[in-house]
Amino acid sequence: MNIITINNLTKIFNPNSKSSRVTALNNFSLTVNESTIFGLLGPNGAGKTTLIKILLGIVFPTSGTAEILNKKIDDYLVRKHVGYLPENHKFPLYLTGEDVLKYYAQLSGCSKEGLQEKIDSLLKLVKMYKWKRTKVKSYSKGMMQRLGLAHALIADPKIIFLDEPTDGVDPLGRKEIRDILLELKSEGKTIFLNSHLLSEVELVCDRVAILHKGSLVREGTVVDITTQKEIYEIKINQKLDSEIVRKSTEGFSFSQKDDYTLHLKVESPEQRDKLLDKFRQNGISIEAMLPLKTSLEDMFINLIHETDNREDNE
Ligand SMILES: Nc1ncnc2c1ncn2[C@@H]1O[C@H](COP(=O)(O)OP(=O)(O)OP(=O)(O)O)[C@@H](O)[C@H]1O
Ligand SMILES: [Mg+2]
Repeated sequence: MNIITINNLTKIFNPNSKSSRVTALNNFSLTVNESTIFGLLGPNGAGKTTLIKILLGIVFPTSGTAEILNKKIDDYLVRKHVGYLPENHKFPLYLTGEDVLKYYAQLSGCSKEGLQEKIDSLLKLVKMYKWKRTKVKSYSKGMMQRLGLAHALIADPKIIFLDEPTDGVDPLGRKEIRDILLELKSEGKTIFLNSHLLSEVELVCDRVAILHKGSLVREGTVVDITTQKEIYEIKINQKLDSEIVRKSTEGFSFSQKDDYTLHLKVESPEQRDKLLDKFRQNGISIEAMLPLKTSLEDMFINLIHETDNREDNE
């Protein structure tokens, strides 16, 4: 079931000012399924935070619509089911970790019954229990993020929006946060995550979208978008001879990775068969032929460069 549906959202800040007009989102559409972890990626200023703020009713869209749990986002009752960890959040420094959770529990209308147990179990979940009586002003960045995550969970939300949740958290802490996200997903919660940390997103997200200058440039599963369907890696069982390589790959664009491996661009299954025939005709036996996989990071960088180059040439 779709839990978030976004239709053609556009947000223009300062529309009437020539000098400060910014199109933060441009005709953006997306759907997110229930009980999944969705990652929204994009460079600084891409529009990621603006999108979350629109979905939460903090910023109004210029045009377009969105629904959460099949309810229009301007229906404020829907926010009862939503938790939010803002980027660069700040809690009152004179409160302890435990006080922060009590304060937000009251703001969210949580029942007082069982509240202390709930607070303790959330603090244990984010490994902050032993700091519960320490004032927030002495917390490190990583501790603040963990407390922020606990505060986003206080009202037992169905959907959790996390804006850069691992910002400032060390590698061990990031792994712990990833494990918490997976646990929340297994409990049926949906998580919408904004992040710059592509390697992390790769490890936890079921689907990802890439946003650049307000527009959606790619969306799919991590496997889908990191597999280059047109480029194949071919492994040969003998050292490659440059003359035979030239004869076998005539008409194809290719690069040689090492003595036994080639990368070839193949645009259709027919072309792929033709290529295999040519290798066989030249007495070369192929050990493996697989679509080339790139890391999410490499794919992201290529995609952003490609989009920028296309715009420069227009
Ligand atoms: N209140 C505002 N008034 C004017 N412009 C804004 C406002 N909020 C955001 N913007 C602009 O909208 C664009 C998108 O900003 P946004 O904060 O959504 O990006 P982001 O993808 O979250 O970036 P980051 O990765 O740095 O957090 C930027 O150009 C930003 O300067
Ligand atoms: Mg942001």
